[in-house]
Amino acid sequence: MTPQLVVRRALWKDAPVDVLVAAGHILEVLPHDARRDFEAAWVVDAPGLLLFPSLIDCHTHLREPGFEYKEDMASGLAAAAAGGFGQVLCMANTTPVNDTAAVTQLMLDKAHEAWPFGPFPRPVGALTKGLCGVELAVMGELAEAGCVAFSNDGRPVENTELFRRAVEYAWDLGKRVIDHCEDPHMALGAGVNEGAVSSRLGLPAQPDVAEAMHVARDILLAEYLDIPIHVAHVSCRKSVELLAWAKKRGVPISAETCPHYLMLTEEAVEGYNTLAKVNPPLRTKDDVLALRQALAGGVVDCLCTDHAPHAAHEKETEFEDAPCGITGLDTALSTTWAMVGRGELTRADFLRAWTTAPAAIFDLPVCAFAPGDPADFFLFDPKARWVVGPETLKSKSKNTPLLGQAMTGRVTAHFLGGKNVL
Ligand code: DOR
Repeated sequence: MTPQLVVRRALWKDAPVDVLVAAGHILEVLPHDARRDFEAAWVVDAPGLLLFPSLIDCHTHLREPGFEYKEDMASGLAAAAAGGFGQVLCMANTTPVNDTAAVTQLMLDKAHEAWPFGPFPRPVGALTKGLCGVELAVMGELAEAGCVAFSNDGRPVENTELFRRAVEYAWDLGKRVIDHCEDPHMALGAGVNEGAVSSRLGLPAQPDVAEAMHVARDILLAEYLDIPIHVAHVSCRKSVELLAWAKKRGVPISAETCPHYLMLTEEAVEGYNTLAKVNPPLRTKDDVLALRQALAGGVVDCLCTDHAPHAAHEKETEFEDAPCGITGLDTALSTTWAMVGRGELTRADFLRAWTTAPAAIFDLPVCAFAPGDPADFFLFDPKARWVVGPETLKSKSKNTPLLGQAMTGRVTAHFLGGKNVL
């Protein structure tokens, strides 16, 4: 078969390779010095550029419908494309909430209008109607409309019986529940860790046990039902230790964490910095180290951005009034690849946590560069320097504590189904 595209001399795990693509799929990946003759409609020469499979972000907020002033499908997916993401699981805390097939369909239609060849949103349906935690959403209809998982997002279901039924129904539909683990009475939506910094600043705060107690509930439930539950954005050592215990016991539980929990601590909120206000909050150096180890050992399966765009006027206010959230689609690739460079994350863990693990957990297509895989990959210039700022971020919102920081590495081409979408 004549390839539609050949990408030549890109570096895959430090070795130059040629990638042959036909009919939107990988035909073959050859060492570059194999130098077979091939005719291709399109040849892209990529010396010095790194080859990566498109990443999967299993936790984003794309805000459409309802909060298009923060983000919409077009801008959120622009940030995804530039940030190396081919698929993003988008949460249901929109207005209206994604608790009907009509809202799911609207999300998919808007994405198709703006980005017909991807990146693709993978909607996460609401677990309960209106995310109110009282009545189950129409989960069957949501799954049929294209939801790939279910979650009550930032409003965890307190009623454990209802939650149990939701986990069971979701599994009957072949889907997993993603749970934002937080005891709402202890957490108060605070966005700052309970500890030295919160005391000094005099802010209402959230202790790590508010998360870990809820993780313990989910572990016990997953074991009892023998049904997997996915724990969202793990932020602390206590949760990691519980997950390690559970995995050792064979409990079907999976988990994700975000780049900000691997790199930043509660000190980032000093000066009442609302850009570092996020839920769950940034914790301590000890928590950061525990999370890095957990990723390395596979106790935490996936990375995700928890991309949570908010407008400047919403963040430029008193700390207690500002919404929680950090954007991440634009920056996550550079920051986590830099961790690989510093030896804080291995390349194998980086690839697993951004690609094969989320694909396996949520049953999504993934490119592992085997013949027949979707031709979803990107080229990355590891030397490109850029500064995080309003002009360099594609997301409509710029609420990241990394503003002004120098980054290394930029996506130069992003192929989805063999088409460059950038
Ligand atoms: O910081 C957060 N922001 N955490 C969440 O769980 C929700 C998110 C949002 O939607 O803004």
